[in-house]
Amino acid sequence: MSVLVTGGAGYIGSVAVEQLIAAGEQVVVLDNLTVGYRAAVAPRAVFIEGDTLDSALLRRLFSAHKIDTVMHFAAFSVVGESCEDPRKYFENNVTGALRLLAAMLEAGVMQFIQSSTAAVYGDPEAGPITEDMPAHPKSPYGLSKLMIEQILDCYDRAYGLRSVALRYFNAAGATQAHGEAHDPETHLIPNVLLAAEGKNENIRVFGNDYPTPDGTCIRDYIHVVDLADAHLLAMRYLRGGGAPGVFNLGNSIGHSVLEVIDAVRRITETNVPVEFGERRAGDADRLVASSEKAQRILEWRPARGDIDGIVQDAWDWRRAHPRGYEG
Ligand code: UFG
Repeated sequence: MSVLVTGGAGYIGSVAVEQLIAAGEQVVVLDNLTVGYRAAVAPRAVFIEGDTLDSALLRRLFSAHKIDTVMHFAAFSVVGESCEDPRKYFENNVTGALRLLAAMLEAGVMQFIQSSTAAVYGDPEAGPITEDMPAHPKSPYGLSKLMIEQILDCYDRAYGLRSVALRYFNAAGATQAHGEAHDPETHLIPNVLLAAEGKNENIRVFGNDYPTPDGTCIRDYIHVVDLADAHLLAMRYLRGGGAPGVFNLGNSIGHSVLEVIDAVRRITETNVPVEFGERRAGDADRLVASSEKAQRILEWRPARGDIDGIVQDAWDWRRAHPRGYEG
């Protein structure tokens, strides 16, 4: 049996593929390479270039490979962009997932792991976020992921398609082989590193008038290796007959934008210049997880929560791959 990893050429998907292969799994990667890189796909995975919107390709894929579990990473994931171009997000993240699920049902593949997001919560109450808190996404991106979670719940009840949705908080860090390489880059840590390298003039901080101690947004940064671990645990949980559900993945530690910039200054030993700008559309004040449920049910143990360690790994990867996957 193989695991199908959609988006396996992307940042988080490529690390999950690396770990699946290390665990002895057969892996098929489906990726359209719009944001992923062919060079990010582990050589031992079968690679298929294509799109989740392509139903005919999906049908062929499921008949050519014996798949028991699908890990669905392929999606657009930039909060601000989704506010400007919601159609792009609904077509890819919702229609693409629906076509994938339809092909799975036709082929009798009944285990699904969905990449979901803290962005489903919108602006939650203060304190660590638990899965039972109301979901009121502030962005089309968050809404697109919440819609899939709700559809998965219906598909479980009606068709017995069992799924786990993993709500990631802020993925960060790298392995030796795989790191974050987006073009254009929108995420905080890689952008601060670009400023530390002098490739960007400064780091622009989007808003310093939020109701937080230093006025900048607070996020829960989680190492990409810890995220990938959770996918393998979720797969084993589903294979073992575990009940479908939704799980937060974070460290339960919040860092403000300015704290992250300070961590980059410490690790890179550079003085990163800061420019304060307007708030960015769709940003929540504070997103910090309670991951108690994932720890209790999936037996997930995030082990790389220290922000300096996360920044160090991201920095080491950048220095080893100065041109990302293009060098
Ligand atoms: N930020 C800046 N300057 C930058 C980039 C980011 O100030 O150049 C700020 C943002 O305004 C935000 C924080 O840094 O306050 C983190 O921003 P990111 O873009 O790194 O991450 P987001 O929190 O917007 O989103 C990420 C993922 C989403 C996911 C979310 C969950 O991209 O897919 O984490 O918390 F939904």
